[in-house]
Amino acid sequence: MKDYSEYFKGPNLKEAQKRSRKQVDHLKDAFEIPSDMVNVGKGKTYYIHTYGCQANERDGETLAGIFEMMGYTPAKEIEDADVILLNTCAIRENAEEKVFGKVGYVKNLKKKNPNLIFGLCGCMAQEEVVIKRILEKHPHIDLIFGTHNIHRLPTLLKEAMFNKEMVVEVWSKEGDVIENTPVTRANGHKAWVNIMYGCNKFCTYCIVPYTRGKERSRLMSDIIDEVKGLKEDGYQEITLLGQNVNSYGKDLEEDYDFATLLEEVAKTGIARIRFTTSHPWDFSREMIEIINQYDNIMPYIHLPVQSGNTEILKLMGRRYTREQYLELFHMIKEVMPDCSITTDIIVGFPNETEEQFQDTLSLYEECEYDLAYTFIYSPREGTPAAKMQDNVPFEQKQDRLERLNEVVKEKALKQNQRFLNQIVDVLVDGPSKRDETMMTGYTAHQKLINFKGRKEDIGKIVPVKVTEVKTWALKGEQVD
Ligand code: SAH
Ligand code: SF4
Ligand code: F3S
Repeated sequence: MKDYSEYFKGPNLKEAQKRSRKQVDHLKDAFEIPSDMVNVGKGKTYYIHTYGCQANERDGETLAGIFEMMGYTPAKEIEDADVILLNTCAIRENAEEKVFGKVGYVKNLKKKNPNLIFGLCGCMAQEEVVIKRILEKHPHIDLIFGTHNIHRLPTLLKEAMFNKEMVVEVWSKEGDVIENTPVTRANGHKAWVNIMYGCNKFCTYCIVPYTRGKERSRLMSDIIDEVKGLKEDGYQEITLLGQNVNSYGKDLEEDYDFATLLEEVAKTGIARIRFTTSHPWDFSREMIEIINQYDNIMPYIHLPVQSGNTEILKLMGRRYTREQYLELFHMIKEVMPDCSITTDIIVGFPNETEEQFQDTLSLYEECEYDLAYTFIYSPREGTPAAKMQDNVPFEQKQDRLERLNEVVKEKALKQNQRFLNQIVDVLVDGPSKRDETMMTGYTAHQKLINFKGRKEDIGKIVPVKVTEVKTWALKGEQVD
């Protein structure tokens, strides 16, 4: 295949794998809009389609904020937009295939509207294989940028507008933490708050440490200021975001960690605090106690286990054994018996035997999770696991996934039953999509609930009596 490396400033996974000790800077003035781009979007619209995790959702809100600062307004439908951005996810092959499907669709839109600007950003842009495929098969894309330089959108957009060539700017190495980008939040009462970027864990199957770079924490003062601002603006709930929030602060000179941060955020008095994701590694007892101590930290922990078998966990590079995970799990339940715990599980990792899969099932039986996100292993080029033979036949992977999902379903119902006839606090999201007369929202334990309520209470926390329990949701009636 042709070597494209000298043609563009593109990604390089080997570079992305390196971790330097260099301290990152926290910059308050790195984002700027060139003067000739300030009003470029007047009378024009943008459309961002975001795939993947909450980190990407939050990046989508920054991109939206930048577009709006340039005068653009959001397009209702993708077909109406003057600029389309696909903010992509690389976590599994099927996530990428979905994006390529959309790329084909936008190609047709571009035929109808040659002035349309089409950009692709996010985690897929950080992968060499993706860039090669785009250069060969999808030359109609105008602009590609990665996860480390979204603050450069105005400048890159300008190049794309005045350039016939595809503009590609992907940084393989993370940059600094940029604090002055704007944000247009998708929700008026629940907000994502980044506390750190990147991941240093390098689980052997995972592409994230390559697409998101090394762990960089935001300063505690910047996070607290953001939370206080959100509270003043009437936000009820914030979710602290990081690929592994328990590592928060380790890269900073200041002497504070995630437990300190959680406590300081709790003291702001914002109504509801959530955080995601917690790697079982370095989940401290202190963290558990702080979660338990403050009423505004929700009794809900997402604690991905990935597998119930120690050998597979070792191959996955997860840094804990089955026993160590269970010890942590029970320590949490001992302090907070009522806490909801959810997990992520991968089936069909290279070499996983039926017996080893049985260990995952037995661990699930023991933990009786509130919910789990279950996945079939998908090799990601450039990761250590991709060099192992992907030797579990697809039918077996599928069969394991189905058997696991049966248990997930059974336990989800069982865990929901503990709320029957109870009065729970619900943050009201809005009318239910299926039935306009019903409201929908989430309980403190992160249970979806549909209930008879009032439209005026959207964005408020209200008491709801649980009258019926289903596998994936509760039903109820507002009681005040
Ligand atoms: N940082 C988070 C999760 C990131 S990705 C954490 O460590 O918990 C979300 C989930 O996707 C992972 O927990 C894992 O279960 C799944 N996942 C990641 N890479 C995968 C792969 N190559 N194949 C299948 N599932 C994968
Ligand atoms: Fe991926 Fe592991 Fe990092 Fe999570 S902790 S993002 S699974 S490498
Ligand atoms: Fe996907 Fe990137 Fe998130 S790969 S899961 S969007 S960090």
